[in-house]
Amino acid sequence: MKDFPTLETERLRLRRFELADAPIVQTLLNDPDVTGNLLEASLPFSLEDACSMITTSHATFEAGTGWAFAVTRKSNDDLVGYCDIQLQCEHQRGAITYWIGRPYWWQGYATEAAKKVVRFGYEQLGLNRIYAYVLQRNTASAHVLQKAGLIREGTLRQSILKAGVFEDVDFYALLREDWLTEG
Ligand SMILES: CC(C)(COP(=O)(O)OP(=O)(O)OC[C@H]1O[C@@H](n2cnc3c(N)ncnc32)[C@H](O)[C@@H]1OP(=O)(O)O)[C@@H](O)C(=O)NCCC(=O)NCCS
Repeated sequence: MKDFPTLETERLRLRRFELADAPIVQTLLNDPDVTGNLLEASLPFSLEDACSMITTSHATFEAGTGWAFAVTRKSNDDLVGYCDIQLQCEHQRGAITYWIGRPYWWQGYATEAAKKVVRFGYEQLGLNRIYAYVLQRNTASAHVLQKAGLIREGTLRQSILKAGVFEDVDFYALLREDWLTEG
């Protein structure tokens, strides 16, 4: 894929991140209610961290191993969150992660973005399996995954040490054959 794709849903535009997005990314992620639910982020989340995240997203796209989308509202171009898919090419599988800034919660944006990225993973990337890891206490994210069609496959007990606490992690997945049948 030569150019970074832009994906559209009813209310959202999922586009390439630009370095100009870094200040808003930092503001939205430097929030314990957001970062505290992510597996691989910690506070404080600096502007340098935001720039590094964006630069890494460009590098993984160039390498053909990852697509990290800025989730924006079509109505006013507000950047509301993040949704990505990272590939393990040899297994034709991809992991999705996402976050939505707290001012934009409860409006169905995560579900809308995750469904679109799952479709992108099967239709454009030709994947066989799409999966996600989620802290077991994160019921909102579990709902998002279930509404995107992923099924809980199991629990990795005390798999993550987060803020000094060992936490259980659930993993969810959707196979291409099931997506084709149900999608
Ligand atoms: C999880 C998160 C992405 C949900 O974003 P969102 O745009 O508010 O989600 P949606 O509006 O699409 O709602 C998805 C479902 O979760 C529910 N939900 C949303 N926020 C919730 C909360 N704080 N607690 C419990 N349920 C919640 C919604 O009611 C909905 O379920 P329903 O359709 O059964 O009613 C967002 O809260 C977030 O970014 N959290 C911090 C980062 C994170 O957890 N990322 C996922 C890591 S795996």
